[in-house]
This record gives sequence, C-alpha cells and structure tokens, in this order.
Amino acid sequence: MAAHWTHIPVLAAEAAELLLRQPNGVYIDATLGLGGHASYFLARLGTEARLFGFDKDEEALAIARERVNDPRLHAVHASYTQAAEVLRQAGIDGVDGALFDLGLSSYQLDNPVRGFSLQRDGPLDMRFDISAPLTAAQIVNEWGLLDLERILTEYGEEKNAHAIAMAIMAARRQGPVKTTFELKKIVEGVVRGRGKIHPATQTFQALRIAVNDELGCVQQVLSVLPQLLKRNGRAGIITFHSLEDRLVKNRFKELVAGGGWRLVNKHVVAPQYAEVRQNPRARSAKLRVIERV
Ligand SMILES: C[S@@+](CC[C@H](N)C(=O)[O-])C[C@H]1O[C@@H](n2cnc3c(N)ncnc32)[C@H](O)[C@@H]1O
Repeated sequence: MAAHWTHIPVLAAEAAELLLRQPNGVYIDATLGLGGHASYFLARLGTEARLFGFDKDEEALAIARERVNDPRLHAVHASYTQAAEVLRQAGIDGVDGALFDLGLSSYQLDNPVRGFSLQRDGPLDMRFDISAPLTAAQIVNEWGLLDLERILTEYGEEKNAHAIAMAIMAARRQGPVKTTFELKKIVEGVVRGRGKIHPATQTFQALRIAVNDELGCVQQVLSVLPQLLKRNGRAGIITFHSLEDRLVKNRFKELVAGGGWRLVNKHVVAPQYAEVRQNPRARSAKLRVIERV
C-alpha cells in the first residue's frame, strides 16, 4: 500500500537543521502524515534517539509505519493536542524538539474517497480521523445559514460567504448535497473564479478547518508548548495559510514577551525557489521556530 502514495516533506532540510540539536534526543513529529519528515529526521539522528509521531489519520499512520520502518519511531493514533499526556504515560516529561507540519497530506488530498479534492469527485467527508463524528456533509446539510456563513467568512476568508451559504440552503431543499462535485457546482453557480484559483477553493478550506477543528487544535497546542519542551528544546511550526500563521506568530510573540523563550529566526523561514519548483505545494509554506531558554 505504501509504495503508491507520495508526500514530499516541505522545508525538511531547514526543519532538521533548526530542530535536531541532540543526536540522541527525544522528538515529536506532531503530524506524521506519510512519514516524510520522520524519515528525513531519523536519517540524521543517533541510534538512541526516539521520535514520537502523531496523526489523527489511521490510514496515513499505517503507511508511515511501513514506509519509515524504524524501531526509533513510536507512531501514535491521536491528536497532537494529546501529546503531553501520551509522553507523560511513556515516562517522558519534555522533548528536545517538536515539528508541526499543519494541514493535510497529499495522500488525503489525492484520495477521492476522503472528500478533500476539488479535482476528483467523492463523498463530502474531509475528516482527518475517519472515526470522528462530524463530516463535511453534515455541516453542509444540517448547519443553519448563519453558521455556514460564519465558517465561510472566518475559516475561508470568503467574501461571498452569504451568497454561497444561501445557495447551499437552496440546493439542499431539493435533497441532500452528497458529493464534492455537487458542492463545487453550487459554488460555481454564485462565484466567479480568480485566475487559476477555483471559486470553491475557500469554501473547501473553510469546511476542512471546521470539520477537523484545525484552528482550535493549533491554539490548544500552542498553549501547552511549555509542558512539551525541555529547556533548550525547540518547536517548529509549518503553516500553509495566513489564519494559522497569524495564530502562531502572535502566540510566539506572547511567549517571548512573558520571558523564558526566544524566536530562533527573526523572519519566517520560506522554501527556496528550487524546492517550490520541485514541489508546488511548498509555495505557501512558512516555518517559525521558538526555543525554550
Ligand atoms: C501536511 S501533513 C504531514 C505530512 C508529513 N510531515 C510528511 O512529511 O509526510 C499533515 C498531517 O497532519 C495530520 N493532522 C492534522 N491535524 C492533526 C492533529 N490535530 N493531530 C494529529 N495529526 C493531525 C493530518 O491527518 C495529516 O496527515
């Protein structure tokens, strides 16, 4: 199964250089995905190092375990918001480094049954964890106009939130909206695209963030960073859109202002041109790193 799916890790060299400072230390890969960063990191760590990998997606974890195939990796099916608890149970009270590579993997995006893709038709699902109760179909078919409008505005930064929410309400009076292509068509009916960007891109982003409570998870983990890191430990967060980046930037500022923390880089670390050419998904990536001093 593993051979079929690929996910090129973004900013892997930069993250490794900034985070891996103890060759035999304990590390967290908070978003293991297909194990791209994990493999890259383990290849640069010592034989006694330990890497705790978290993912909400059990299918991705199975692929990562097979692909990484390394006894130093402990892959855990849990949200990274539970990392402190999992580590405590393993008798670890702080790690030397933690990487958060936010968003979704190519495996999830390219797999039509997961319902994230604008390119391939599939059920309106969008859950990272397929055992979680809330799907995109439930939001689209059951939530009220104001809640739809709110998530489109807040999580999609969609200017046409009201028109799209009204169009969804009208469409579902004819019967439930079940697939990604049905939703895409509803949005196409009321919004014109800008350049190469499909008009439903922001609607899909908003639904994905709402289904997985993505911003809530980022906020939660940012507030428990002090419990996760040892002194001199570092956390690196790779974001792909401004909503997440803003949260990270502001929280890091607050930590530094409160004392006991320092920003490792003055500016965000962005991918080099060569990386973006090889992996267009990297183009909007931003890495911020903070150190507990
Ligand atoms: C961008 S991908 C990570 C790719 C990985 N770094 C690699 O190189 O293969 C993000 C992953 O984070 C997972 N994820 C998102 N939110 C999560 C959370 N709160 N807890 C654990 N995993 C999460 C997603 O299921 C997805 O597999």
